Amino acid sequence: MIYGLQAALSLTYAWIKAGHIIFVMFWIAGLFMLPRYYIYHQESAPGSAEEKKWIERERKLRSIILTPAMILVWIFGLMMMWTIQAWTMHWFQLKFLLVLGLSAYHGWMIGYGRKLARGERPVSGRALRLMNEIPGLAVVLIVVLVIVRPF
Ligand code: HEM
Repeated sequence: MIYGLQAALSLTYAWIKAGHIIFVMFWIAGLFMLPRYYIYHQESAPGSAEEKKWIERERKLRSIILTPAMILVWIFGLMMMWTIQAWTMHWFQLKFLLVLGLSAYHGWMIGYGRKLARGERPVSGRALRLMNEIPGLAVVLIVVLVIVRPF
């Protein structure tokens, strides 16, 4: 009986982990795309029909993919954190700081999209290109932490 319960719980855990990784992929894919859209957006003439298309594409990417994916990654991640009491592990503590940073980056990018939609363009294309490297770097560090667990 206990054996059966344990088997059921670990199967559930495996499904939660699968969900976590699936939505990590959607989230990160969206984070790779959004600043790219902003770069193309800023190359269009202010007020043009092309700019309006970019505003709409950005809005859809944010509301259909990025934000729901981030929320699901957090929900599944926190469920696993709770189950394995991950906060006691050093690799997880650093991972947690990195995912907080990535979520802040996400929030900043959402805010920047709202500014663009209002016709403001406060950041240069070059700076956006540099910022576009941040999610890639975060993925490298996070995956090494969760898979290699160096400490
Ligand atoms: C947003 C908050 C997040 C939380 C709270 C969280 C938490 C967790 C926890 C507790 C595990 C379980 C580890 C285990 O069972 O050994 C896990 C697994 C994993 N996480 Fe996250 N995670 C988050 C975001 C991310 C992100 C952004 C990525 C990738 C960039 C990621 C990649 C992974 C991978 C690849 C695994 C599987 C590791 C394995 O096979 O054991 N996670 N996560």
